[in-house]
Amino acid sequence: MDSPPKPNDHQPNGDSSLIENHHPPKKLKSLPSIPISATEIASEFAHHDPSIARINNGSFGSCPASILSVQSFYQHLYLRQPDHFYFNHLKPAILKSRSFIKDLINADDVDEIAIVDNATTAAAIVLQQIAWAFWEGTFRPGDAVVMLHYAYGAVKKSIEAYVARAGGHVIEVGLPFPVRSDAEIIREFRSALAEGKANGRRVRLAVIDHITSMPSVLIPVKELTRICREEGVDQVFVDAAHAIGNVEIDVKDIGADFYTSNLHKWFFCPPSAAFLHCKKSNSNPNSTDLHHPVVSHEYGNGLAIESTWIGTRDYSAQLVVPSVIEFVNRFEGGIKGIRRRNHEAVVEMGNMLAESWETHLGTPPEMSTSMIMVGLPSSLRISSDEDAMKLRTHLRDSFGVEVPIYFRVQRDEGVGVSDKNVCVTGYARISYQVYNKVDDYYKFRDAINQLVSEGFNCEMLSSED
Ligand SMILES: Cc1ncc(COP(=O)(O)O)c(C=O)c1O
Repeated sequence: MDSPPKPNDHQPNGDSSLIENHHPPKKLKSLPSIPISATEIASEFAHHDPSIARINNGSFGSCPASILSVQSFYQHLYLRQPDHFYFNHLKPAILKSRSFIKDLINADDVDEIAIVDNATTAAAIVLQQIAWAFWEGTFRPGDAVVMLHYAYGAVKKSIEAYVARAGGHVIEVGLPFPVRSDAEIIREFRSALAEGKANGRRVRLAVIDHITSMPSVLIPVKELTRICREEGVDQVFVDAAHAIGNVEIDVKDIGADFYTSNLHKWFFCPPSAAFLHCKKSNSNPNSTDLHHPVVSHEYGNGLAIESTWIGTRDYSAQLVVPSVIEFVNRFEGGIKGIRRRNHEAVVEMGNMLAESWETHLGTPPEMSTSMIMVGLPSSLRISSDEDAMKLRTHLRDSFGVEVPIYFRVQRDEGVGVSDKNVCVTGYARISYQVYNKVDDYYKFRDAINQLVSEGFNCEMLSSED
């Protein structure tokens, strides 16, 4: 059988060693002596629309051409002889990807790793067993589930669908923004747990983001998990949709029961792929109740195996993980080097923008990742979520800049929330990924400066519609 193309070879070569002979190494491959060049990086991402300054890797991620070519190889392999692919190839290839992920995140056992479509699916898996525990009487009506106020919208809906509807009491942890220290987050979290435990209730689950989406903040997830253990919370689910490729992950050290990260955001996989790590331990007595929400032939064979077949579909995005590791190892320092440089660059770009606009960052550098929040000039008068969306669209359509905008409800208290005029109510979430160039951020800076100098404000956009 043909082997997948190498990530530095855009055309499937089709005739070297057998796929079955590719085994995940015990340790990740050593790094090359000659790192990938700027020209090669540009060619890997040449399919990006050149008219757009894409400073929003966070929303949809990115996938290099060489990995798309590996994905296409697998799609063709399947179509060439589907029965052979299904009976002989699919499960071992998914196992290989799971083994690599296990090493990357320091898990104990490959059986703890399931590959699913995305973090939304992972959340459904975790929350479904919570709903069953309410329905089957293991949990009592009114038992609590705690989540961050800044939990991702889709995950909040999932909590509504699976927990609130089954009789659970949902508590939101209010978080300050701009935020200056982990201590502010820890204080709010402790007080939400106290509320959850009031009147003899039990807190059955805490849903904690590793990196919140909007506003983007790095959460002290290890410390919050430890507090959950101390306070007798039954289960901890870490929604780390943005984590792999963006921050270091050590699931043993974090100690949560469930931990999910998308592979298609910061880890260069094509859409859609994510892993869900489920710790095998006594603190997770419901692990046998974990099932993929799409039930198929493998039902009852453990979540990892159930997830390898959820009906006929394209599984190719799940098979490219070994090739992604080869791709990231073409960069100096591998994935660690990419992470470090992206972080340093996004902080530098964030400071450059804040200085030009006379605003501030929404988080200190140590609470940001490869994304950072930058205050927008108050003269833009962003006064609702709708304004934030309209400004984003205007930046895309009129200036060729793709960047998400966050509207922050004005509060009296808070630090560093003013620019030279009044209160900052809008923040841009800028990302930095390997394909970005300084010019992308200059384009954004100049667009905002032009809007300000022209006396633009968001009310004008409303009247344009
Ligand atoms: C924190 C968080 N959780 C979950 C998701 C959902 O990811 P997906 O749409 O890939 O399922 C996102 C997406 O941005 C996110 O930021």
